[in-house]
Amino acid sequence: MSLSCHTLLCWFHIGLLLGVFCYAGDPFANYELEFSYITASPLGVPQQVIAVNGKFPGPTLNVTPNYDVVVNVKNKLDESLLITCYIFHYGGPGIEMRRSSWQDGVLGTNCPIPSNWNWTYRFQVKDQIGSYHYVPSTNFQRAAGGFGGFVITNRKVIHLPFNTLDGDMVIAIGDWYTQNHTTLRASLDAGKELGMPDGVLINGKGPFKYSSIVPDGINHTTLNVDSGKTYRIRVINVGVSTCLNFRIQSHNLLLAEAEGHYTSQQNYSSFDIHVGQSYSFLVTMDQNASTDYYIVASPRFVNQSTWQRVTGVAVLHYSNSKRCASGPLPDPPNDLYDPSFAMNQAISIRMAFGNWTENSRGSYNRWDAIARSTTQVFPGGWTAILVYLDNVGAWNLRTVNLDRWYLGQETYIRIINPEDHEQKTELPVPDNVLFCGVLGHLQRPQRTFSSAGSTIKELSEPCYLMLMAFVAVVYMMI
Ligand SMILES: *[C@@H]1O[C@H](CO)[C@@H](O)[C@H](O)[C@H]1NC(C)=O
Ligand SMILES: *[C@@H]1O[C@H](CO)[C@@H](O)[C@H](O)[C@H]1NC(C)=O
Ligand SMILES: *[C@@H]1O[C@H](CO)[C@@H](O)[C@H](O)[C@H]1NC(C)=O
Ligand SMILES: *[C@@H]1O[C@H](CO)[C@@H](O)[C@H](O)[C@H]1NC(C)=O
Ligand SMILES: *[C@@H]1O[C@H](CO)[C@@H](O)[C@H](O)[C@H]1NC(C)=O
Ligand SMILES: *[C@@H]1O[C@H](CO)[C@@H](O)[C@H](O)[C@H]1NC(C)=O
Ligand SMILES: *[C@@H]1O[C@H](CO)[C@@H](O)[C@H](O)[C@H]1NC(C)=O
Repeated sequence: MSLSCHTLLCWFHIGLLLGVFCYAGDPFANYELEFSYITASPLGVPQQVIAVNGKFPGPTLNVTPNYDVVVNVKNKLDESLLITCYIFHYGGPGIEMRRSSWQDGVLGTNCPIPSNWNWTYRFQVKDQIGSYHYVPSTNFQRAAGGFGGFVITNRKVIHLPFNTLDGDMVIAIGDWYTQNHTTLRASLDAGKELGMPDGVLINGKGPFKYSSIVPDGINHTTLNVDSGKTYRIRVINVGVSTCLNFRIQSHNLLLAEAEGHYTSQQNYSSFDIHVGQSYSFLVTMDQNASTDYYIVASPRFVNQSTWQRVTGVAVLHYSNSKRCASGPLPDPPNDLYDPSFAMNQAISIRMAFGNWTENSRGSYNRWDAIARSTTQVFPGGWTAILVYLDNVGAWNLRTVNLDRWYLGQETYIRIINPEDHEQKTELPVPDNVLFCGVLGHLQRPQRTFSSAGSTIKELSEPCYLMLMAFVAVVYMMI
């Protein structure tokens, strides 16, 4: 690739996402999500962030399989908005599932929701039990917030490969800039790199003052736990482009799930979480309960001393603890510029290094490769992705590094029905579909809710046309 790779990793996200048929009689989960700007100072500098229902980060949506999920998104921003949800379906014998690209929430397959309009996503969740998240997919808005967790909980009759837990929490980690997203966008438009982020947020808050490098007056996140209990901690990286190493001082992270796939359980002292990925760890509170502990999310594959301010620190607070977390942060893996640790971690949860050649085909992990919606491509390495083209429609294949996605690293796969079989045709266009661009004249006016609901407005967004079929091996070179 001719683009220079600023971050050491490049990411591709396979947008085979949500949206399935609605079956009459199944229960409904209705959500109203209002996206608006609020002012917050996560790193001590007041800035405009995108809140969902007034909260930053947004609320976690919690649904159960077979629910028909109806999410009415109100766009109170001053620009158009599209929301996508990183949900992956992996099928199995006898599981017939139909998703709709009309609900995918990315440009090219969906028109953006104009300012002061609303749009209702409708889809059914099936067996994708696990941890996911929703994010804005256009206009660089993800760098300003608008994200939240999306958890699909098992039904009582479905057993998980672990005992009942004492608690369940979502932790959103991500690199963060104190410039607002319009300024960041303008830098990219002018051909500039974004440079080092200003910090890492954990659940929308800046670092605990673990050292004098952290300015005063920053609020941090505290997770309250009880000694002896075991919690499921779902960690998602919603940042722009930085891979983060996640760890909890003195505590083991028992990896249990990667985006809906239940992994063989293994303890880690720290774990790399790339942008767009979500994992569940089972953490037992088995340490001395008279003190608090650090929760750390620090950047990977960079010089830690230069990037020291880009460190997220939250606090794990035992209910009877009397002492603040103290001392130095727990060490990150000591393998700077040595991708083998990370490679091993990635391979251990099943995924090579060097240049891809025809011969590499023989080395694919065809047996227990896991289903992912997001996968990493190490610099100078490659990742082969088997995409099941079992769902007709137009799907988006993209990098999840936000700056590269914004600059156009994406493509579309159009999956065409080979047979004239009713079950395999594309799902019908939903009746509330938005039209834009050359089809903009087909759009019915919508009542906007800005001025007492009286204004009628037509869409005039530029259109992004769907492209053609595409090869499924992604090959990156710096
Ligand atoms: C910290 O939290 C308090 C209480 O919620 C709030 O009043 C204050 O504005 C916050 N400060 C910053 C810098 O976000
Ligand atoms: C906007 O929200 C209303 C309910 O508040 C709903 O009836 C309408 O269908 C929504 N519009 C679209 C395009 O989804
Ligand atoms: C974004 O930041 C720029 C530069 O600081 C500022 O001019 C602009 O008003 C900000 N926009 C908003 C909506 O805060
Ligand atoms: C993981 O570590 C916990 C202690 O934190 C221990 O109880 C458990 O047996 C370990 N599990 C595995 C699979 O190593
Ligand atoms: C826990 O830590 C406190 C304070 O450091 C210490 O006094 C106590 O002996 C420790 N308890 C155990 C069981 O190690
Ligand atoms: C990291 O940066 C510091 C300060 O700029 C420098 O002294 C050190 O040599 C760098 N370390 C590596 C491994 O490049
Ligand atoms: C990959 O290919 C490039 C150019 O073809 C070459 O410069 C590089 O040495 C190769 N890397 C490996 C690990 O074989």
